[in-house]
Amino acid sequence: MGFITWATSPWGRAVPIHITWFLIWVALIAGLLFMIVHAIYVGIFAPPKTFAKNDSPAVVAAIPERVPRHSLVARAFHWVMAISMFVLLFTAFLPKVGIQFNWVVYHWIAGLVLTASILFHIVHASFFLDFWSIWPDKIDLRDAKRRLLRSLGKQAPPPDRFAKYPLENKFYHAVIVLSGLAVIVTGVFMMKRVHTGIFTRNPYLFGDMTWGMMYVLHGLAGVGLIALISVHVYFGVRPEKLPITKSMIFGWMSREFYLEEHDPQRWAVEEPSPSQEERG
Ligand code: HEM
Repeated sequence: MGFITWATSPWGRAVPIHITWFLIWVALIAGLLFMIVHAIYVGIFAPPKTFAKNDSPAVVAAIPERVPRHSLVARAFHWVMAISMFVLLFTAFLPKVGIQFNWVVYHWIAGLVLTASILFHIVHASFFLDFWSIWPDKIDLRDAKRRLLRSLGKQAPPPDRFAKYPLENKFYHAVIVLSGLAVIVTGVFMMKRVHTGIFTRNPYLFGDMTWGMMYVLHGLAGVGLIALISVHVYFGVRPEKLPITKSMIFGWMSREFYLEEHDPQRWAVEEPSPSQEERG
């Protein structure tokens, strides 16, 4: 069975129309398998985390009880994006697995919310946040090698603690950027195929082949997001990651967790925002 459903155009040409929907199950099962393998690895085989640490008493004393991590604006963006993503996933895929409802309208509205939130995030992250903090740097790559060697029982110096984001989170972000942009760009064009009351409908904007490929790309990135979002939620609820998840709700992480996993030299404590100061 191929991963594309084909149709014949009025001119007798084979054109793709969308992905085959069994890929929904492939993505769900792939996500589930990843979680099972990861949980077994962490629970049974993984050596305990060790980092190189040499904070001077002055550095330790300067760290506040609550280390600010995500501003209110950054948290609001994250949760708006998360809600729109879930609405998009459920409206897209429930009808394909037999739960029928008038999904297209809810879907494109959530799509516009996601698009607006991402546009906002690009401006916010580029001009108001530390843009480079989410992209892998040289120390991340050096430490990835060290961590790999140590997990295989080989000799290697302990890795440094992370900067603001662990390397795994940086990779996740890069993959979600690619799949997110793919669904957004194709989705905005696909709005020309349906009655939205916003754009004038024009199904002749592209030829059958181009439309078909666009639907296939939208579908592939969409099913990829099933696996990506499931794995993201799995990590969010894992006990050792809860301090990170909580920081996406309350905006801060504890001093102990910060000093355990984050290097003050690589991620300096930022000044708390006035709203965080008010809450103590
Ligand atoms: C998590 C993100 C998304 C997922 C999982 C997703 C998934 C899907 C799927 C599976 C379809 C059915 C396509 C087909 O029949 O081949 C679809 C259709 C559609 N999507 Fe998305 N999508 C997402 C984001 C977006 C965004 C951001 C927009 C708009 C800005 C959008 C607009 C549309 C439109 C207009 C259709 C209907 C096309 C039609 O019926 O002709 N989608 N989406």
